[in-house]
Amino acid sequence: MSKATILEATNIYKTYPNGYEAVKGVNIAIMEGEFSVILGSNGSGKTTLIRCLSGLLPITHGEIIFNKTSHNGTGNSQLKDIRNASGMIFQGANLIDELSVLTNVLIGRLSFMPLWRTFLFRFKDIDREIAFNALKRVGLQDKVYEFAGSLSGGQKQKLAIARAIVKEPAIMFADEPTSNLDPQSSEEIMELLSIFSQKDGKTVVCVLHRLDLAKRYADRIIGIRDGIKVIDKEHPHFTEDDLLEIYGQNGISMVNDGYSRHEGTIIETRRNYCYK
Ligand SMILES: Nc1ncnc2c1ncn2[C@@H]1O[C@H](COP(=O)(O)OP(=O)(O)OP(=O)(O)O)[C@@H](O)[C@H]1O
Ligand SMILES: [Mg+2]
Repeated sequence: MSKATILEATNIYKTYPNGYEAVKGVNIAIMEGEFSVILGSNGSGKTTLIRCLSGLLPITHGEIIFNKTSHNGTGNSQLKDIRNASGMIFQGANLIDELSVLTNVLIGRLSFMPLWRTFLFRFKDIDREIAFNALKRVGLQDKVYEFAGSLSGGQKQKLAIARAIVKEPAIMFADEPTSNLDPQSSEEIMELLSIFSQKDGKTVVCVLHRLDLAKRYADRIIGIRDGIKVIDKEHPHFTEDDLLEIYGQNGISMVNDGYSRHEGTIIETRRNYCYK
């Protein structure tokens, strides 16, 4: 049975107020339950693109269809619909350092609460239970009452995942969730996202800079260059030429490093694909 499309962007553009055109005529269809990875050089427009797709930024032109509802992505209520149904793990976690780990997760539940409760931060027992479970799931059950600011970089990313999970999103966006993390922590973060996709059957769209991780976890790889989508392939069909198309000759050796370290070995991925 073919998968349903959960989000479809048609010919979308994003021009910032200073006139810079960061996304140019992108068409993307995200399939339900799929794990998509977006690759591209610094400044190519990856963050701008996923912010547009997740309703955090209004698009300048084009159309986004989310959960079968069509709109041009500019109306406030339409943007709110997408935002409410999306989880977002930001580049750099975006936590409130002065609040406890638990409260940071509970913030992910705000959209389920009436306005008066959100002002008073009056969370229900069920919200606390959901938050505790999410923290357990990401392995932070011993840090519940610590300040978020006291966590390590890897722990902060796990906390950001817990906060996004409790929102029960239909689609999870993650913007470089492994940046600045050591290999072990990067693996742990990717595993958590993978479980969210595989076991929970949720849709994940993740920006990465590491090709080896992209190849291990992605069902599909989307390449962005200068705001334009240049590659969109199921990952077993992804080639070295595609890499060149995304990064150009200068960028390719740097990105390829993570990949070539695995050359000569066979890596079993979650989908049991093998690379030699
Ligand atoms: N608020 C803004 N106003 C004007 N230009 C912006 C704004 N935000 C981003 N840009 C520009 O848009 C382009 C794309 O930025 P974006 O952050 O989307 O890139 P990116 O691919 O996520 O880069 P990185 O890999 O470094 O995170 C860049 O040239 C950036 O300078
Ligand atoms: Mg970015």
